Amino acid sequence: MDFRGVILLLLVFVGYPWVSVPSAAVRTSGEDYVRPPPRATLNLPSRRTKQSSDPQQVHISLAGGKHMRITWVTSSEASPSVVDYGKLRGKYTSTSMGESTSYTFLFYKSGKIHNVVIGPLEDDTVYYYRCGGEGPEFHLKTPPAQFPITFTVAGDLGQTGWTSSTLDHMDHCDYDIHLLPGDLSYADYQQHLWDSFGDLIQPLASARPWMVTEGNHEKELLPLFSSEFRSFNARWKMPFEESGSPSNLFYSFNVAGAHIVMLGSYTDYDQYSDQHNWLKADLAEVDRTKTPWLLVLFHVPWYNSNRAHQGEGDDMRASLEPLLYAAGTDLILTGHVHAYERTERVAGGRLDPCGALHITIGDGGNREGLATRYLDPQPDWSAFREASFGHGELKIVNGTHSLWTWHRNDDDEPVRSDQVWITSLASSGCLSRRPDKLEFGKISVGP
Ligand SMILES: *[C@@H]1O[C@H](CO)[C@@H](O)[C@H](O)[C@H]1NC(C)=O
Ligand SMILES: [Fe+2]
Repeated sequence: MDFRGVILLLLVFVGYPWVSVPSAAVRTSGEDYVRPPPRATLNLPSRRTKQSSDPQQVHISLAGGKHMRITWVTSSEASPSVVDYGKLRGKYTSTSMGESTSYTFLFYKSGKIHNVVIGPLEDDTVYYYRCGGEGPEFHLKTPPAQFPITFTVAGDLGQTGWTSSTLDHMDHCDYDIHLLPGDLSYADYQQHLWDSFGDLIQPLASARPWMVTEGNHEKELLPLFSSEFRSFNARWKMPFEESGSPSNLFYSFNVAGAHIVMLGSYTDYDQYSDQHNWLKADLAEVDRTKTPWLLVLFHVPWYNSNRAHQGEGDDMRASLEPLLYAAGTDLILTGHVHAYERTERVAGGRLDPCGALHITIGDGGNREGLATRYLDPQPDWSAFREASFGHGELKIVNGTHSLWTWHRNDDDEPVRSDQVWITSLASSGCLSRRPDKLEFGKISVGP
């Protein structure tokens, strides 16, 4: 038996989630829209060639205070962790050195993973850069310091034909930052799929910062191997040190007038946990005169009327919703459920004008297909729900108004299917007259 055989046996042993892909389009009752079926995983040629110092899988992320982290992989061990950059094509006026890492996973050994922080950079400015002292030129744009700022949001991406169309549509949006609430590559122990995912997203992720948090597909737990989040942490270093967090699995950052908190659904959140303590301290520091908008992302939704993953977020909600409520969280963005749902403002299981608006957007295009069955009747807190692939765009216009749109992939046209203006809690008087204690309530479904 070869290595692959051994790995497959191990995968079966740990309960690899084999999923059959239905082939027929789904027509939902009462709708004219004929929903297309899932698409197969793309067969991406591996560009990993030995002895090569060519940068692969280039992606960038915010690294605190006008800095950007450039991450890439080389097959060559000798390639240096250095980035040359500047504001003119081919003319590099600055150079930054960084560090590298690599990891092993069963019989797989990763390439050399480079991390170089560049900056300070000017706001809202295009920079040209080169990785490893040679090779092709990339370019990036830094986010603006002021509103307006535009985010794209899509979770549960994977690497199928639907992922490609989601990425294409995102590319048509002139966004500043991509936010990803977990489940990136769907590698699921097959480590070369992390590499192909990195190559698939490079055209977008090398040009705009991608800020991610982890989902269940990042866990890759193998008994006795302490492999949990190993690949994710090695490949997707986020600015946790910069935000005083002890772990890459939860962190926060400020951009324009928004404070954005990325939490972990699969790391401890009880009241004695590191995550709980860090979150409390982080929220206490938020200055709403500087960052009037407070956004939070994590993987497993708390308010979800899809039949998929019912109740999975309850424990985390019981532990962290009071903190997020007391801090006046405007918007909570999650994934996991492969569908789209937007709620009214809710807290403690009930409609609450000072609660957060929740958006589940786990419909990036992964191989598992859509979650099409819903609870009936639709709960009063659920404002819009639909099982289709797509992505979201959040344009924060100013300190009081944001425009949220959800774009259904819809036969490869970036159709805008749901749109709503959101006013900030900071502008609605909620931050001062909100009760300081949230009564935890079961989520009411149906009248
Ligand atoms: C914020 O943007 C909204 C929507 O464009 C606009 O109606 C409102 O007047 C703006 N507020 C300020 C203070 O500029
Ligand atoms: Fe998930």
